[in-house]
Amino acid sequence: MSIMNVKKDGNGDEYYTPKYVVEILLPYLRLNNNIKTIWCPCDKEESEFVKVLIDNGYKVIFSHIDNGQDFLTYEPKEQYDAIITNPPFSIKNGIVKRCIELGKIWVLLLSATCIQSASLVKILSKAKNFQYIIFDKRISYSGDRPPFPSWYFTSNLLTKNEFYIYKEDPRLLYNKWLKDKI
Ligand SMILES: C[S@@+](CC[C@H](N)C(=O)[O-])C[C@H]1O[C@@H](n2cnc3c(N)ncnc32)[C@H](O)[C@@H]1O
Repeated sequence: MSIMNVKKDGNGDEYYTPKYVVEILLPYLRLNNNIKTIWCPCDKEESEFVKVLIDNGYKVIFSHIDNGQDFLTYEPKEQYDAIITNPPFSIKNGIVKRCIELGKIWVLLLSATCIQSASLVKILSKAKNFQYIIFDKRISYSGDRPPFPSWYFTSNLLTKNEFYIYKEDPRLLYNKWLKDKI
């Protein structure tokens, strides 16, 4: 999907991650030399997770429901070291449960508000070495300020919670990214 067609549906399943948000993750990934191959399970070739991770030397496997690869049941045959994506919000419990079951390092960009869900907290309580990367401002997915904050939810990646303090307004960062793409 072209970035010009960013679709925001009612359930938050079709928010596409801007490049600058994936780049924020890179220094944390570089701390772990064992991460060589990354599976992006809710992503197509044009996903910024796929593009930025490849550009930074990672081998990337990507899959998407539109290609018959449902993350809740599908797993690539190739070996991989970590799962990284911005998943569909409407099935967040199933997504987190699946990540935990697969037993790898995982990083999910999720609405911080989902921590208010008792059922999700119950699932998260089973995650190993669970930490957040917390943003001081809301990620701008389409040039505006969305109604929810998003954080990176991570397992087996960090040793403590990390904070990302923006030096620029995320809406400006989004618009710069958009300009570069046109
Ligand atoms: C919030 S969007 C983010 C897309 C991309 N990961 C990104 O960050 O730009 C989540 C994507 O997951 C797809 N999706 C929905 N259900 C899925 C499933 N069960 N397995 C894999 N992908 C799914 C949606 O169609 C949507 O494109």
